[in-house]
Amino acid sequence: MRAVRDLLGQIKDAAALCEEDRLVRVNQAFRRLFGLHNPSPSLSELLAPVPEEIGRFEARRIHPLEPPLLLEGVLLPWRGKRRLLLLWERSSLEHQEKLDLMTRLAGEIAHELNNPLGGILLYGNLLKEDLPEESPLHQYIDKIIKLATRGRIIAKTILSLAHPEEGPRETLDLNVLLREMYDLVAEYRVLRQVEPVWELSPEPVLCRGIRSQIERVILNLLINAGEAMEGRGKLFLKTGKRDREVYFEIRDTGPGVPPSLRTRIFEPFFTTKKHGKGTGLGLSISYSIVTRHGGRIELEEARPRGAIFRVHLPALEYENEGTGSPHR
Ligand SMILES: Nc1ncnc2c1ncn2[C@@H]1O[C@H](COP(=O)(O)OP(=O)(O)OP(=O)(O)O)[C@@H](O)[C@H]1O
Ligand SMILES: [Mg+2]
Repeated sequence: MRAVRDLLGQIKDAAALCEEDRLVRVNQAFRRLFGLHNPSPSLSELLAPVPEEIGRFEARRIHPLEPPLLLEGVLLPWRGKRRLLLLWERSSLEHQEKLDLMTRLAGEIAHELNNPLGGILLYGNLLKEDLPEESPLHQYIDKIIKLATRGRIIAKTILSLAHPEEGPRETLDLNVLLREMYDLVAEYRVLRQVEPVWELSPEPVLCRGIRSQIERVILNLLINAGEAMEGRGKLFLKTGKRDREVYFEIRDTGPGVPPSLRTRIFEPFFTTKKHGKGTGLGLSISYSIVTRHGGRIELEEARPRGAIFRVHLPALEYENEGTGSPHR
């Protein structure tokens, strides 16, 4: 419990640990936001609607004296049935600050989850080895192992948001990376029937970076494009050089991103995909990788329809100037 108290204490925004409708523990900012004195009421007396699913939400504050206030927040998994709730006044926090906070918390939670999941996998595998081959219990153990593995993959993905995998910085040709990553996912369900249109620069498009990280960004964008088109349409893959930068561009013929969501899609856990389909981490991880490389991601509307995600990185020859090297 101490760890939780320390964690809640460090958070500047309103934060609470809850179990269903019950508030288990809240921080100062939370008390202040709701004008709370002991004993604490339940969540449904404070917020409407009460968030139920993990992820981002918006809700109104219910306060005995103050007028209603529009709040934004995020509900994160904790242990068992417990959830960590973070709340802030709509647009009261700078966007970047909010991203940083959520990234840090997500990392800590993923770390907490990773160890017990590792234990479940280990004991699951030991049990499987000792079980007679003909035992009907194998099917249950296989399920346990499969689900724990899935949990671990999710925890690792979240961890990589705060600490992307490291590696040596190499000279990379974006033409080559884009082709390789496309080949890797071309047979993936959402891309199998999509027609690729190549618009690669005839010259190599060189920059310096951590290969696995840049590959990750490309994969995230390719999969998003496929998912947005629901498996049908055209995928334009382009590379080039402009001023002191190189870029690659992934354009789809899906519905595009509505203007109201343009900045939100880069926030961790923001997803419009059905429950269990998307974790909302792809773009936030990509954003953090590209910024660490001294680059930026642009989002543009495609005509007549679709989204263009363009990633700029410092060109190889300018890489050592200014923002060229990854910040740590
Ligand atoms: N090419 C695109 N066209 C339209 N909307 C997009 C596109 N790419 C991303 N989005 C929107 O941005 C949201 C966030 O994308 P992000 O990759 O971060 O998460 P996700 O794809 O929902 O889940 P995850 O990547 O973790 O599986 C998506 O849910 C979708 O609403
Ligand atoms: Mg995604």
